[in-house]
Amino acid sequence: MAKITASVFTSHVPAIGAAMDLGKTQEDYWKPLFKGYEYSKQWMKDNKPDVIFLVYNDHATAFSLEMIPTFAIGTAAEFTPADEGWGPRPVPKVIGHPELASHIAQSVIQQDFDLTIVNKMDVDHGLTVPLSLMCGELDPKKDAWPCPVIPFAVNVVQYPVPSGKRCFALGQAIRKAVESFDEDLNVHIWGTGGMSHQLQGARAGLINREWDNHWLDLMINDPVACANTPHIDYVREAGSEGIELVMWLIARGAMSDVVDGKVVGPAPVVKHRFYHVPASNTAVGHAILENA
Ligand code: DHB
Ligand code: FE
Repeated sequence: MAKITASVFTSHVPAIGAAMDLGKTQEDYWKPLFKGYEYSKQWMKDNKPDVIFLVYNDHATAFSLEMIPTFAIGTAAEFTPADEGWGPRPVPKVIGHPELASHIAQSVIQQDFDLTIVNKMDVDHGLTVPLSLMCGELDPKKDAWPCPVIPFAVNVVQYPVPSGKRCFALGQAIRKAVESFDEDLNVHIWGTGGMSHQLQGARAGLINREWDNHWLDLMINDPVACANTPHIDYVREAGSEGIELVMWLIARGAMSDVVDGKVVGPAPVVKHRFYHVPASNTAVGHAILENA
């Protein structure tokens, strides 16, 4: 049986990828940010999963206003890092896991979540920056990401976007799906994007440390209350792009203490927690939880 053993949460600021690709991680501006991921890179080496189920959002890269799936699962054998305007990032291509991804699609759709199945898709900074933060700099000519990755794209870019509650319920369905896969696989689930940021309009540059940290407390310790956070609170308190945080609730809902929408089991172990401002226009949040 496959099993989800841990969840990872992290922001995905594209400038972080550029800082890594251009050798700027030890500059004064970036040093404190990358210091917060030192533990995480070692943890990844010590706890290497067989598969990462990576919840992220596409930023009008693979999708556009022509086609906007709310929840899309990548079932392909591989995914190419996208050209977002400055050429593709110099990172390894992403190897998928078509068997597990197809199984999850079958199971989750039969649990009444209508996923879009994607057999060809380039992946943007929403997916590659979290991988770089957790795995460090890799040479695409000779290195590979440590394991296969199943990309799971959520629409948080074009309204209407899914609620935190829906995302939290979806996480529970994904865990059931993983646990019914007939092969012993150690699976990690990642929730990415956030924290507070607004890239546009009169409030561009908005950061809300207090709200971010309170939300992080809730996400870890009282995920049911966190999942009930209304959509308008994200926008008001964390800015228009702060809504990316609902994706973290998919990963949190997949942890083993949550059953039928309630917390019943022992709380996950918080292996690491980090918060840092500034990184470009975004507050960076990060956590690693292991099932108890
Ligand atoms: C920034 C953050 C994002 O989440 C994004 O998708 C693009 C830019 C930023 O802070 O610059
Ligand atoms: Fe983003």
